[in-house]
Amino acid sequence: MPDDNALIAAARAAREKSVSPYSNFKVGAALRAKSGKIYQGCNIENATLGLTLCAERVAIFKAISEGEREFEAIAVSCDTDTLTPPCGPCRQIIWEFCGEIPVILSNLNNKVEHETARTLLPRPFDRSFL
Ligand code: THU
Repeated sequence: MPDDNALIAAARAAREKSVSPYSNFKVGAALRAKSGKIYQGCNIENATLGLTLCAERVAIFKAISEGEREFEAIAVSCDTDTLTPPCGPCRQIIWEFCGEIPVILSNLNNKVEHETARTLLPRPFDRSFL
C-alpha cells in the first residue's frame, strides 16, 4: 500500500536520528494518526541505560502530547535480517494508546512483515480489567 510505504520510509528516516552510543542499535518508528499526520520516533539512550526510550514509545508519546488520540498504523525499522519487533513494554503501550492497529516491521533491505498490536500481545492487560 502506498500509505504503508510512506510510513516505512518515515520509520527508516527516523532511525537515522537514533541516539544509541551504548548499544549501537538504531531503531526508527513512524506512527500515522487518523488525522493523516505521521509522528516519527527514534530510540534515545543515556548513561543510566535504564532510562532508555524506545523508538515506538517516543513516536507514540509525541503524538499523544500533540493531542492525537486515534491511530491507523505504526512502522518500525531496524538494520537486522530477522525483523526486529517491538519490545514487551512497547507492545503494552501500542495496545493501550493505539488499539488493534497494524504493526509494520521492516529493515533497510526492503524486507517487510505485517503484524498487529493484538498478534504481538495476545492477552493484554488493559483498562477493561480496572
Ligand atoms: N529498542 C527500541 O527502540 N525498540 C524496540 O522495540 C526494541 C529495542 C532500542 C532500545 C535500545 O536503545 C536498543 O534498541 C537496544 O535494545
